Amino acid sequence: ARKSVLGPLVGAVDQGTSSTRFLVFNSKTAELLSHHQVEIKQEFPKEGWVEQDPKEILQSVYECIEKTCEKLRELNIDISNIKAIGVSNQRETTVVWDKFTGEPLYNAVVWLDLRTQSTVENLSKRIPGNNFVKSKTGLPLSTYFSAVKLRWILDNVQKVQKAVEEDRALFGTIDSWLIWSLTGGAKGGVHCTDVTNASRTMLFNIHSLEWDKELCDFFEIPMAILPSVRSSSEIYGLMKISHSLKAGALEGVPISGCLGDQSAALVGQMCFQDGQAKNTYGTGCFLLCNTGHKCVFSEHGLLTTVAYKLGRDKPVYYALEGSVAIAGAVIRWLRDNLGIINNSEEIEKLAKEVGTSYGCYFVPAFSGLYAPYWEPSARGIICGLTQFTNKCHIAFAALEAVCFQTREILDAMNRDCGIPFRHLQVDGGMTSNKILMQLQADILYIPVVKPSMPETTALGAAMAAGAAEGVGVWSLEPEDLSAVTMERFEPQINAEESEIRYSTWKKAVMKSMGWVT
Ligand code: G3P
Repeated sequence: ARKSVLGPLVGAVDQGTSSTRFLVFNSKTAELLSHHQVEIKQEFPKEGWVEQDPKEILQSVYECIEKTCEKLRELNIDISNIKAIGVSNQRETTVVWDKFTGEPLYNAVVWLDLRTQSTVENLSKRIPGNNFVKSKTGLPLSTYFSAVKLRWILDNVQKVQKAVEEDRALFGTIDSWLIWSLTGGAKGGVHCTDVTNASRTMLFNIHSLEWDKELCDFFEIPMAILPSVRSSSEIYGLMKISHSLKAGALEGVPISGCLGDQSAALVGQMCFQDGQAKNTYGTGCFLLCNTGHKCVFSEHGLLTTVAYKLGRDKPVYYALEGSVAIAGAVIRWLRDNLGIINNSEEIEKLAKEVGTSYGCYFVPAFSGLYAPYWEPSARGIICGLTQFTNKCHIAFAALEAVCFQTREILDAMNRDCGIPFRHLQVDGGMTSNKILMQLQADILYIPVVKPSMPETTALGAAMAAGAAEGVGVWSLEPEDLSAVTMERFEPQINAEESEIRYSTWKKAVMKSMGWVT
């Protein structure tokens, strides 16, 4: 039975790299009332390429909304209480579609995709000054961000070239694609993005908060195809019924929150103060530290990014970010490519059987290495194998890899910020794995604190949507999160052991580098 009083409800779409979810929260307590999740396919047409079908992504959103509404009806909860919808999404992933037909003109090129390595090399030869991109965007010139993916699509997809010439093409990250489609698509959909998503395109000036003409010229991107940039919390448009959406009750509900998933998690963890940080374990792993109104530039391989801007007239907040490309994705790889587990929960069972990697180290540099190395030529390795090594040790090493990578970005953050973290706030699907959480505390040698409800990303998007002007059902005060309790994991090994394991990991990382020349 529900413990809390039912206030106005807020829904959130969380469109991640591995799955789509729709969740409905009680805005008075942040209690999660109902949700539905659908896994998303990833296609690997060539080595290093990662694509997704934008229509499958959209369809998965419809399906999640429908199923969640059905579950709410079964709980006797009136769907008309849903007062707003927020969107959070995998960032950087690039979509181009036809504004008259609503059809995608190419598959979505996913953030992990490496096809633009030579595009990046060519661009870096003609960059007008070393700091040109970084000083405007906070980002290194890398395959990770949308501008180079869009450049590749414009160079290689004839359908897109033609649509651009005929003024039919629209570009967007996943948030734009979804909001445009959900607000009417070809029949009047709103083509927009928010400042957090825009800040991951490498075309957006994070100081002026506008598309940057010089960057668009440098990447040769026609500005006419870019979405308008809005704050993370305002009414962008109203849900329009689509033939595929039976959940008619959501017709007319405002879409009023939009944040890249990592920013959404920062909001969901209430990291509103300068110096507050969170680490989210999804497909990748992303540690963001709020730096207030200041753009702090890293000396240690971190990114500077827009954290959030919660309202048209509200100030912008920035964050330092440590990005790790492969976290949950390594578990999916063990399932889909090696077949040593049938589902992601089984990893915990395997790891528990041995409780050690027995000297095996797994560097899952499938998409090169992101922070703090930014080394596209790295590739995954499993080393330290003996005849004694079995799949349980490899499973354990995969979990340890996630923790070691987090240690690397936390160390970089400590160096940039000058004040070492005394604990780490975490969230995301993988945090329900207790072995992972304990390992993380051991390897960081500080306590790890996780919320009882791991869907912090969706919660942040719901909070932004509920707090928007004209909606006003969420106040963003701590008492509105009374349903969320915290669990703490203390380090259990000694500091010396923790350091030895970490320094062996570093040796393994060095071996993974320079694999591709
Ligand atoms: O930058 C990529 C990030 O937004 C992907 O998030 O949750 O799919 O790992 P996730």
